Amino acid sequence: MTSEASSVLDKPATSPISTRRHGDVLIILSNNPPVNALSAAVRLGLVDAIAQAEADDGVNALVIACEGQTFFAGADITEFGKPPQQPWLPAVVDRIENCSKPVVAAIHGTALGGGLEVALGCHYRVADKSARLGTPEVKLGLLPGAGGTQRLPRVAGVRKALEMTATGSPIGAKEAFDCGLVDRIVEGDLVPHAVAFAEEVRDVRPLAKSSERQDRIADVDPSVFDDFRKENAKRFRGFEAPLRNIEAVKIATEKPYSEGVIEERKLFMELMGGEQSAAQRYFFFAERKANKIEGLPENTEPRPVRKVGVIGAGTMGGGISMNFLSAGIPVTIVEMGQEALDRGTGVMRRNYEASAAKGKLTAQQVEQAMGYLQPTLDFAELADCDLIVEAVYENMDVKKEVFGRIDKIARPGAILASNTSYLDIDEIAASISRPEDVLGMHFFSPANIMKLLEVVRGAKTASDALLTAMQLGKKIGKVPVVAGVCHGFIGNRMLMPRQIEATKLLLEGASPEQIDRVHVEFGMPMGPFRMADLAGVDIGWHRDPNRIENVRDALCAIDRWGQKKGAGFYDYDEKRRPSPSPVVQHIIEDFAARQGVERREISDGEIVERTLYTMVNEGAKILEEGIAQRASDVDVVWVYGYGWPVYRGGPMFWADSVGLQTIVDGLKRQEERMKPDFSFSKLLLDKAENGESFTR
Ligand code: 3HC
Repeated sequence: MTSEASSVLDKPATSPISTRRHGDVLIILSNNPPVNALSAAVRLGLVDAIAQAEADDGVNALVIACEGQTFFAGADITEFGKPPQQPWLPAVVDRIENCSKPVVAAIHGTALGGGLEVALGCHYRVADKSARLGTPEVKLGLLPGAGGTQRLPRVAGVRKALEMTATGSPIGAKEAFDCGLVDRIVEGDLVPHAVAFAEEVRDVRPLAKSSERQDRIADVDPSVFDDFRKENAKRFRGFEAPLRNIEAVKIATEKPYSEGVIEERKLFMELMGGEQSAAQRYFFFAERKANKIEGLPENTEPRPVRKVGVIGAGTMGGGISMNFLSAGIPVTIVEMGQEALDRGTGVMRRNYEASAAKGKLTAQQVEQAMGYLQPTLDFAELADCDLIVEAVYENMDVKKEVFGRIDKIARPGAILASNTSYLDIDEIAASISRPEDVLGMHFFSPANIMKLLEVVRGAKTASDALLTAMQLGKKIGKVPVVAGVCHGFIGNRMLMPRQIEATKLLLEGASPEQIDRVHVEFGMPMGPFRMADLAGVDIGWHRDPNRIENVRDALCAIDRWGQKKGAGFYDYDEKRRPSPSPVVQHIIEDFAARQGVERREISDGEIVERTLYTMVNEGAKILEEGIAQRASDVDVVWVYGYGWPVYRGGPMFWADSVGLQTIVDGLKRQEERMKPDFSFSKLLLDKAENGESFTR
């Protein structure tokens, strides 16, 4: 290698693109923090740099690399929906590919979306061994629209292109190398390695243009597309973009590149103009905004958390502990009796081993995680923990008793968190000597899997305690959302009106199957009654089989506690497949008769208005009362905690799509039937009247 020439900045200081020479190799460097998104300035800089290289006889090869944490992470999503600015990304990628001198992409971090398309426009790709490559456009309701759907199958093969584009999951450098997407994997300083590679290939002709390759798309069995669709039918249910991605990759195998890109553009523009992509793009930013805490004093610093204590080794306590263990944070877990402790730690180990059996973890990682666990019966061992999460029985007296004990032994400054789903954090905090250290960390079941974490800010919660819980949540792979104190916080509180109306609808004439079907057709993973059966119909039951005041009591009294008993609102076969239950139907009709409820035909539309519009109304109350910081946080809670279809953005975004006046009109239509359980949110009424929205 020749020695590095002095740095030559040919762009104005404001351009994110700079160039420098290393012998006869021109290094084009992007510096557009935080993720090197391909903004208009970056695109322009790239085109100019290519022109500079073409014009310079002293340049024989090029390297495109990025500074900072990552290679280009995609098109600049903030530009979407605005008037497009030249040069367009597809033209930039073409310009790179048509450069008369070899261009090498030097990939570190993540080459995503438009970033991967830029890399595909390059003639060669050199990647750091930790790099990840992917086409996440589908998660924004889109497809790779800069030639990606046509180039990727030509380079990586059809099957890999289908997997990458339709699922949006990135692949590691090794997998990318194995499928031909990456030409060399390197360790250590990336750019010098890429320059060395460029020097090796500087004289190779013809240039390896992805768009001209035929070898990987010849003789493709056309059944591969249908098979792939079928294999993933459940995953893709309700989404438009995965199918359009598959269609575009199929086109690559049927038409010449020049025609394929035109079709790709058409599909891209259709998706971009659609409601699903608008919802998914909105959600991308909603998720990131959720992490920002309003009203936090500027200099707030998080408290260090080196060790966590968890009280209770039941399903929740175990799941919560696993999150920290997996992140390498030691956990002391406390139980009342040896048997419960052994059972709890046994379940955790089995869960880890199940992940290992699926290839998600190595045996060594399982041992490492379990090695961070310290099970004990001695409360005093929590004394050196920086955060203590209690996950005991959901009862105020029990919680207060536990907090009283923690208060006596926890070290000063330790954060004391309750995993309560409903209870008043302020009441718990007021019962001990350090209310400023108390907050809620509401994990969702199964706690080691579900991404949502409601961090409940009490009236006296210290800012640094809140910040710590939010940052820690992110560190353990959760999506934390700040919630205020009220019965059920954001998520469970919104579940209540849905549950109340769904139950009333049963008596009025709807069946559990009809109500569940409406929710599933809407895009929810399951309806309220399948969910009740899964969670346990007996949750919150008073346990007195002679006290029968509603349908739930009646089911519990005859042992229909849900899936775990093989019967709940539905009957279940040995494979846990549900079927309608004549017994349940009889109970419902009996109750209706006893309560004098007139049964009638219920339309699907009424179900939507009474179970989904009411949730929007509750969400508006939550905003009105300051329980959620912003409407988009409500949406994040529902998408990550309850499986609200992300292609509908979340309840508040969806309400805006439907139109707030339409929501209000629907609720007014049902108001009489819903009384006295229902009352209007003033915020919703005001916004509807003023033609405003929650999220746009
Ligand atoms: N455009 C604009 N801003 C982006 C962006 C993008 N493509 N990707 C990330 N950002 C912003 C985020 O909004 C966030 O901003 P904030 O700090 O103001 O909240 C900031 O960059 C940092 O992002 P993260 O918090 O997500 O940082 P992480 O380090 O956790 O993750 C990442 C980095 C893996 C690159 C992640 O940001 C990511 O997945 N980005 C999106 C990638 C993507 O979807 N690319 C495809 C875009 S569509 C496209 O390319 C179309 C083309 O085919 C035509």
